[in-house]
Amino acid sequence: MEIRSDFLVIGSGIAGLSFALKAAKSGTVALITKRDIKESATFYAQGGIASVSSKEDTFESHIKDTLDAGAGLCNREVAELVVKDAPARIQELMELGVKFSKRANGAAVELDLGKEGGHSKRRIVHAEDLTGKAVEEALVAAIRANPDIEVYENHIAIDLITHSKFVENIENIGSDAVWGAYALNKSTGEVHTFLAKATVLATGGAGKVYLFTSNPDIATGDGIAMAYRAGANIANMEFVQFHPTCLYHSKAKSFLISEALRGEGGVLRLKDGAGFMEKHHPMADLAPRDIVARAIDFELKKSGDDCVYLDMTHKPAQFLKERFPNIHKKCLEFGIDMTKEPIPVVPAAHYTCGGALTDTDGATDIKRLYAIGEAACTGLHGANRLASNSLLESLVIANRASIHASAVIKGEKTGIPPIPQWETRGAVVSDEAVVITQNWDEIRRFMWNYVGIVRSNKRLERAKRRIALLKDEINEYYWDFTITSNLIELRNIATVAELIITSASLRKESRGLHYNIDYPERDEANFRKDTILRLGLTPA
Ligand code: FAD
Ligand code: SIN
Repeated sequence: MEIRSDFLVIGSGIAGLSFALKAAKSGTVALITKRDIKESATFYAQGGIASVSSKEDTFESHIKDTLDAGAGLCNREVAELVVKDAPARIQELMELGVKFSKRANGAAVELDLGKEGGHSKRRIVHAEDLTGKAVEEALVAAIRANPDIEVYENHIAIDLITHSKFVENIENIGSDAVWGAYALNKSTGEVHTFLAKATVLATGGAGKVYLFTSNPDIATGDGIAMAYRAGANIANMEFVQFHPTCLYHSKAKSFLISEALRGEGGVLRLKDGAGFMEKHHPMADLAPRDIVARAIDFELKKSGDDCVYLDMTHKPAQFLKERFPNIHKKCLEFGIDMTKEPIPVVPAAHYTCGGALTDTDGATDIKRLYAIGEAACTGLHGANRLASNSLLESLVIANRASIHASAVIKGEKTGIPPIPQWETRGAVVSDEAVVITQNWDEIRRFMWNYVGIVRSNKRLERAKRRIALLKDEINEYYWDFTITSNLIELRNIATVAELIITSASLRKESRGLHYNIDYPERDEANFRKDTILRLGLTPA
């Protein structure tokens, strides 16, 4: 089947949904998403959205905190633009019906602002500790009500349709362009051709590349891998953010314990009750995330313990239940009463700072291809993202991308060129699906052990050898057997793992989220720059 629209949006988190709503004002939108529409990292976001919203705060302070967290690699112009646009984007969400938490200030009612690591002021707009759910539900309701947006759930994009591969040599058009994507309908097993004048990757991050992650199962870096295969520049993949505090419990599947708890006075403690963050950073428990995660890793390796503890017991029980109802309830399900006992926590892979390189309009270096949200690298986060800047970046860049893409397609005379249907090339149904689960497990485990919070040359070399072997095996399997969603995701996590390993190997220093014990210092002279890779893992 062939489906035509002006805009193709891949992904239904905050980035994809916001783009779709805006773009629908100037054309038709097809939105494909690989599970049900709400399933996304966005849905699980807890802490909130950073936005200067009080008289005590300034744009300059938010910009400075963003740049400080980013360890010298943020693009100041991007940070300025995103920070200054935040209040307008928050206002839009409220107009869509998102009910952010409020508090009384004398006779006035104002936004209740939270605080998180690396922020020097209270500026996190939130909906209790379920911010993502509130935002996702409001956006989905607006999408469902819009007749110009066609939603395709349970459709997983396989690959982008590039002009150079499917139409003709790119000499005639100057540089390559994207005309949509092939996507597998998971319910029928058919591959459909989605054609569009502008295609948007809003596929989120790649936390599932690691054994332990706060991310939902959809986070397999599909958009980053598709952009890479299409020939786009991919930047800064070595900067994987590990969230310091995920619930340590065999059944909890890395449930996040929001940084907002430390913002409200939570203290990290060792098993014997001793606090330890003062010795690692002057901001102690509210230091930027890279520092807190590394400090916990250091303390765990030293003590041999399985976890550290986040202590909230000094706060009134009523306050905890009202401010963090979701976390309180979830902990109780696992037999932990956070009002009475410290919460066992460990770090887990949380956020992909790198991604498809874009400008501030979300445009990649391939015509008609945009990347927004966690799948993109705009230059905002540098070597370490400041807490609650991700939802914000998604909103701001989605808005700008919709304006840019609408202008690109407006009044175009030439249409989409003829594109061939997906070819199965004699693939047969696999009787060895165990290869997929085995390779998934292997990649996630060695990425955790060798390319995790603390890296070394030797570990990176080991990872490089293993991924090379596995990629060959996966590629062979990919072309021989009928495509499935597990296979598509496996191929993508292998590609993303290779991008992370290669980027980490190229950065011979330690900066932000990338820490290599063989180069423990920052090297401003040689490495104050982005790591950019193109197809063939060639540095751009
Ligand atoms: P996502 O919300 O992850 O959406 C990606 C979408 O793409 C999904 O719909 C997925 O199904 C779809 N998709 C992926 N691949 C394909 C494919 N091949 N074909 C079709 N569809 C596909 N950030 C903050 O700023 N504040 C917070 O408080 C915060 N809390 C967080 C808490 C948790 C537990 C997690 C995991 C993250 C948190 N983050 C937070 C980070 C933030 O939530 C994400 O970075 C952000 O939601 C990413 O939005 P997105 O739209 O780019 O991607
Ligand atoms: C959290 O609530 O700790 C997550 C915030 C973020 O990832 O920005």
